Amino acid sequence: MKLAITGKGGVGKTTLSSLLARFFASQGRTVLAIDADPDANLAAALGYAPEEFSKITPVSEMSELIEERTGAKPGTTGGYFKINPRVDDIPDRFSARRNGVKLLVMGGVKKGGGGCICPESVLLRSLVNHLILYEKDVVIMDMEAGIEPLGRATA
Ligand SMILES: Nc1ncnc2c1ncn2[C@@H]1O[C@H](COP(=O)(O)OP(=O)(O)O)[C@@H](O)[C@H]1O
Ligand SMILES: [Mg+2]
Repeated sequence: MKLAITGKGGVGKTTLSSLLARFFASQGRTVLAIDADPDANLAAALGYAPEEFSKITPVSEMSELIEERTGAKPGTTGGYFKINPRVDDIPDRFSARRNGVKLLVMGGVKKGGGGCICPESVLLRSLVNHLILYEKDVVIMDMEAGIEPLGRATA
């Protein structure tokens, strides 16, 4: 199962995502939770303390990884980038783990005028498209508020 939780800001996406992640983990399923909201707080909802939370490096800050995989330097505009980057090793190499839930934080906008998050979105879309799951595996994505996840086809 791959579930994307979308909707307006404040409607309960993060709360529902964390509850589903914990529920499926408690059923013995392998769960990958992806915080795909640039204003990330799924880790807090999953019970990470602030000091642990701050140690998680968002995928969007792995500039070398994004550049290596997509061919685009984050924060730059124009040019070409790959729309089918390699992603199979990302969940195991870059996720945090707690209570049976693997957590990947995509990250995104850090400051005003920080540029577009196109390469990051491409990486996310590709990651979720190409992840091959076993029967009992679940991916839960806590999405950005609004309809952007539909426009970008990340949902
Ligand atoms: N079913 C609910 N009933 C009441 N309050 C809720 C419910 N779901 C979430 N909340 C509260 O609403 C606020 C926003 O929830 P959150 O999950 O962060 O929304 P989103 O991720 O969609 O922005 C939080 O304070 C959360 O505790
Ligand atoms: Mg949220």
